[in-house]
This record gives sequence, structure tokens and C-alpha cells, in this order.
Amino acid sequence: MRKINLQLNNIKIPILVGSNILKTINPENYVKKNDVVIITNSTIAKLYLKQTKRMFKDYNVDSLILRDGEKYKNIKTLQQIHDYLIKNKYDRSLTIVALGGGVIGDMVAFAADTFMRGVQLIHIPTTLLAQVDSSIGGKCGINHPLGKNMIGSFKHPSVILMDSAILKTLPKREFMAGMAEVIKYGLIKNKSFFKFIDNNYSKIIQQNTDCLLRTIFTCASIKAQVVKEDELESGIRAILNFGHTFGHAIEVYGNYERFSHGEAVALGMIMATNLSQKILNLEKKEVDKIKQLIYSIMSEELLKSEFQPNDLVKLMSADKKKKGDSLNFILLSSIGEAQILSDIQESDIIESIKLN
Ligand SMILES: NC(=O)c1ccc[n+]([C@@H]2O[C@H](COP(=O)([O-])OP(=O)(O)OC[C@H]3O[C@@H](n4cnc5c(N)ncnc54)[C@H](O)[C@@H]3O)[C@@H](O)[C@H]2O)c1
Repeated sequence: MRKINLQLNNIKIPILVGSNILKTINPENYVKKNDVVIITNSTIAKLYLKQTKRMFKDYNVDSLILRDGEKYKNIKTLQQIHDYLIKNKYDRSLTIVALGGGVIGDMVAFAADTFMRGVQLIHIPTTLLAQVDSSIGGKCGINHPLGKNMIGSFKHPSVILMDSAILKTLPKREFMAGMAEVIKYGLIKNKSFFKFIDNNYSKIIQQNTDCLLRTIFTCASIKAQVVKEDELESGIRAILNFGHTFGHAIEVYGNYERFSHGEAVALGMIMATNLSQKILNLEKKEVDKIKQLIYSIMSEELLKSEFQPNDLVKLMSADKKKKGDSLNFILLSSIGEAQILSDIQESDIIESIKLN
């Protein structure tokens, strides 16, 4: 098992990465008092709730099972969590365990931050995307009908437990969605990691334990480093949004149903690569390399997606990363080197909305 310490102003958050670690971890250091509630969804509960309960067998442990899906990441489900906690008379000594992917992680962390002004939280991310990205950094929240992740806060857990073995049951489509964020880290921060992904692509996809653990560990380390530098996203942390200005708009375009978050990010990264070529003269050789790797994680159906550029631009303007009148874009000057840019001409944005 390997450990990353995410050191922030007043807290240190341990991130534990390993294979089959959930069977051996003693949660004693991370639980506040006696009460533990595991919150998960119906899909994950069938696979991992029993095992997770066993981990907390020395505590008074209960569970709440929510419906599965991004469309339930909303105020109604948040209220369902609060109702449950209030009706069962939990108090501030409670520890909540978020067992799930990014949807559960974001929503449950927000519930943990808002119930009684904040209770202890443990993240057990169960998707590749949640392990390499969403469980680290504290951003949490729910969607609003007018925009994604519009209601939220920052809530850090007492520990993040990343078990690569839990990904064995993840559907291929979801694994590939996580790969979009994996590739992102190589692109924005670490050229040699990009090469590693490129060279070991098949092994990672087949979940070879060593390759997968190295992948998760590297991504989590990069995310932790960026978050440490800029916890509240007033600057450099925005580079983690490479492909996301397009991606969030694509998610809305598909009504949060047609494209998962990771798929929308994969599509968005191709568009951001096109824009990088136009604005920062990203070399054609690198553009081709980047696209080739991203294409390999996309299904044929996804590759055939078509967008009305004007509609997508309109949706982008509603995105929360809009500052004043101009949109922010994360662009690449080369693989591993990202920049934050604004004031990009609409015609250039429109021209970059294509998948070839
Ligand atoms: N907070 C952040 O910094 C941040 C960053 C990126 C994404 N996000 C959010 O994350 C969400 C997307 O997360 P996601 O891609 O993990 O999707 P998800 O949470 O919807 O999970 C995808 C699917 O996989 C299932 N699943 C999860 N773990 C499983 C397992 N081990 N075995 C079998 N099935 C499993 C889930 O039930 C679900 O059906 C979005 O809401 C996005 O906004 C947040």
C-alpha cells in the first residue's frame, strides 16, 4: 500500500492506494466516534456494502442506499440524505462514508458538510474517475436544473481509501470514462506519464495490477500537488479543467444522459486540443498523438457524436467557469504544459468543435 499526504493549511489528508486494501485497513484513526453511516447507491450496495460494513464492524454502523445516476445528483436526493440523518437522530459525532463514484462522492460529501454544519467524512471511491480525480480536492455538490455542480462547497475527508481491486466490476464504459481524466493528467502536467499511458495502454485497460496502481498513484499525486498549490481554485487548479469547458457544455447538450462526465471530457479534450493547435501552435505531431490516445478510449458511437457548434457555445457561456464576459480555456502549448487563457474569439471556438 502506498500513501500520499495531501497537506493543506490546517489539515493533512492521507490518500491510501493499494490492491485489496479495504480488507485489511483499520479505520480507527479516521472515524470520529461510535456512529458510522455508509451512503452508497443501489448498484454499488449489491457489490460492496457487506464488505464495507465489515470494515466498520467495531462501530455502530448503518447504511443508506440511494438511486443510481447523475440525474439523482440533485436537491431531492440531498434532502433524502438529510431526512435520514435527522430522523435517525445522528449528531455531530457521526462519520459518513461515501462509497461510490463521483456522483455519490460529490453529493455525500456535500451532505456531510451541511448536516449539522459538518460531520466527519471518509471517501471510498469506487470508479477510476473518482479515484484519480473527484475524491481528491474537496469540491463537492449537486446539480441544479440550470447547470451542473452549481450548488456546492469544499469538504475534505479524514481519509481517502483507493482500492484498485474494486474497479474489477466497473463496466468498461465507466472505466474508459475514467481514462479520460487519466490522460488529462499526462497532458496538463507530466509528459513522461503521458508516454507511460501510451506505452502501457493495453495493460492499464486490462487492469494489470502494477500498471493500474501506478496510474492511480500518479494521477492522485498530481491532483494532490495541484490542489495543495491552489486549494480554492483561484489560479493554477483551473488547469485540471482541461477539456471541461467544452465537456460540461456537452453534458448539458446530452441532457446528462447521452454522455457521462468522462465521455464528455474525452470529447472536450479533442476540441481543446484543436483549439490549442490554433491558439498556442501545439505541434501537429503532438496533436495527432493526443488524438490517437483519446480516440482509443472512445466507443465508435461516441466518435460519431455531432454537435451544433453555436448551441454548444451558448451552453458554454452558462458554465460556471465563465468570468465576466469571456470564457476560460485550458490549452496546451505542448504535451505536459498547460496554460489558462481567456478572450478567445468565438469563431476559433466554433472552428475547434469537431472530432477530427
Ligand atoms: N468533485 C470533483 O472534483 C469532481 C471531478 C470530476 C468529476 N466529478 C463528478 O463526478 C461525477 C461522475 O463520476 P463517475 O464517473 O464516477 O460516475 P458515477 O458515480 O455515476 O459512476 C458510474 C457508474 O458506475 C457504477 N459503479 C461505481 N462503482 C462501481 C464498481 N466498482 N463496480 C460496478 N459499478 C460501479 C455507478 O453505480 C454508476 O452507475 C459527475 O457528477 C462529476 O460532476 C467531480
